[in-house]
Amino acid sequence: MNWAVVTEMVLIETRSLCKTYQMGKVVVHALRDVSFQVEQSEFVVILGPSGSGKTTLLNLIGGMDIPTSGKIIFGGNEMTTKTEELVEHRRNNIGFIFQFLNLLPTLTAVENVELALELTGALTEDGKRDFSKKAIHQRALELMERVGLGDRVNHFPAELSGGEQQRVSIARALAKDPPLIVGDEPTGSLDFKTGVEVLKELLRLRKEEGRSVLLVTHNREIAKIADTVIELSDGRVREIKEGERRTPDELRW
Ligand SMILES: Nc1ncnc2c1ncn2[C@@H]1O[C@H](COP(=O)(O)OP(=O)(O)OP(=O)(O)O)[C@@H](O)[C@H]1O
Ligand SMILES: [Mg+2]
Repeated sequence: MNWAVVTEMVLIETRSLCKTYQMGKVVVHALRDVSFQVEQSEFVVILGPSGSGKTTLLNLIGGMDIPTSGKIIFGGNEMTTKTEELVEHRRNNIGFIFQFLNLLPTLTAVENVELALELTGALTEDGKRDFSKKAIHQRALELMERVGLGDRVNHFPAELSGGEQQRVSIARALAKDPPLIVGDEPTGSLDFKTGVEVLKELLRLRKEEGRSVLLVTHNREIAKIADTVIELSDGRVREIKEGERRTPDELRW
């Protein structure tokens, strides 16, 4: 799906989503009856303590796993459970940013971004995908520029600060030009100042590029930057409330 042609205001809708894991004789209810909507260009924080089902929920939306019951409508279409189509969904629609910086240490920053582009091709101005080395390199440089690292392209991950590495991860997530960025505790392994830097970048993606962001955290302070906070507790939606839309500089954690 080319997200430029998605005209619905609602990017994601989950309807009575349930996920259970059978562990021998014990059934674990990781998600129970979870229903909510995420609009295009909305910054949503999924808040909840450890074990409340946050990662499980991201995995279902990201097509890494399938629900036990209930459904997900993404960009107006019900999400499939077919493996190949889920691979397509992951590849085209979702930019993932993880807690632990997972750049390849033997590649430079720009090469890490190029690697992601080799899968998706470089988006050209007329909306096509160009797989040539030159186009991929050019686009990787642009993405590095966009996350403020134009002067760090030839650094290896070990030669970058934690926040810079996480910004390379963001550039890499943007390679496919996805409508949705998901982050599972993307500031979890960063110090406060670096975390703020990464949150600012995520907010910019929403404001300036119109992407939706789903950010998972257990940190109530971080949740204050959201447009909407979905609070999970023991696999259920405990509350959906309007966020405070604070700027990262106002936060302390
Ligand atoms: N593959 C699995 N098999 C069995 N149980 C699982 C599996 N994945 C998660 N669970 C269980 O489902 C529940 C929700 O797990 P999940 O990883 O979604 O929590 P979380 O909110 O992301 O927690 P954390 O903040 O610690 O990352 C937990 O009780 C967990 O033990
Ligand atoms: Mg988790």
